[in-house]
Amino acid sequence: MLDRIRKSFASAKACPHGGKVRELEQRLGVMPLDFSANINPLGSPPLEGVILEELKCIGHYPDNNYAELKAAAAGFVGAAPENIVPGNGSSELIRLFAETALDDGDQALIPHPTFGEYENQCLLMGGRPKKVPLVQGRPALRDSDWKEAKALFICNPNNPTGDLLSKGEALSLARRCEREEVFLLLDEAFIELSSPEDSLAEYAPEMEYLFVMRSLTKSFAVPGLRLGFGVTNAALAQVMNLARTPWSIGSLAAAAGAYLLGQKEHLERSRGLIREELAWLSQSLRDLGLEPHQSHVNFILVDIGRSGMGSDQLEARLASQGVLVRDCQSFGLGKGCIRVAVRGREENQILIKALESALQCKD
Ligand SMILES: Cc1ncc(COP(=O)(O)O)c(C=O)c1O
Repeated sequence: MLDRIRKSFASAKACPHGGKVRELEQRLGVMPLDFSANINPLGSPPLEGVILEELKCIGHYPDNNYAELKAAAAGFVGAAPENIVPGNGSSELIRLFAETALDDGDQALIPHPTFGEYENQCLLMGGRPKKVPLVQGRPALRDSDWKEAKALFICNPNNPTGDLLSKGEALSLARRCEREEVFLLLDEAFIELSSPEDSLAEYAPEMEYLFVMRSLTKSFAVPGLRLGFGVTNAALAQVMNLARTPWSIGSLAAAAGAYLLGQKEHLERSRGLIREELAWLSQSLRDLGLEPHQSHVNFILVDIGRSGMGSDQLEARLASQGVLVRDCQSFGLGKGCIRVAVRGREENQILIKALESALQCKD
């Protein structure tokens, strides 16, 4: 039977992610402290009221046009509702973008290291991913790379490195994509927790090949809600909205999203906290003899090479103390790096203590 399914699905592989809190909770019998998923450390604005209100309508299908959600997303980024493509998490939009841009055998340029779903979804859609090295956080694209490419995936700020392209840098990449007729997925899942002024969302309605993507998961600390949206020109948005699975966003998520996108002040406070804690945590990691990569967002890639320990071993030692970090082997970084989220001060102190004890342990 498997020889008769779509070829690209027959070779589907697992794409590892962080946030395995429930798994570890079952093992330890206590809720671990999660530094492996990069969620807003301030948490989410209260959602009970909106959700309970919407629950009254749970007997009806959601509006598949998602008019209210689109209006809120459009207002949030300064676009029009016809420029918005809502998604069941931005993960659904990565798939939808790959489905839209790639035919079998089409090449997609993907920087290395970056979020694993770009390669995964590209392969599932029958595309041919081509890795592009990051040099000082910038994709080192050669003229020859553009010739065969159909799509380019850029994560800004980049997961897992925390590098941030300025608006000027991102715009010059987007303009090159327009000239080369290469679709650009600009994943701004983390930009609200970093530097929203460097977003290209405002340019997306006027460009042909640019698809800017946002995730409410990270900005508003709602990974269980599953909500994201894309911003692009009206023609492409229409195609993607028609191709999207109908009703892919539940009505509770749609209502919560429309509310959350009005909470800009929450994001401002979050950025203040992240700036402060990023500086504290980076210094504390250096004090332990580790080498944190300079980050512009709410997570830090940490080179643990000098500890003499592998990332899997360090991850396991921290897990046994109830602290989850991200082993970066799945990003293709060998055993030399972990990634930690920036949380509140008390939690960051617990991380540093746990690291101190894990690094001292000699067995
Ligand atoms: C860079 C990046 N983009 C997109 C996603 C997907 O997020 P979601 O589907 O929850 O919106 C993630 C999740 O970790 C991510 O790190």
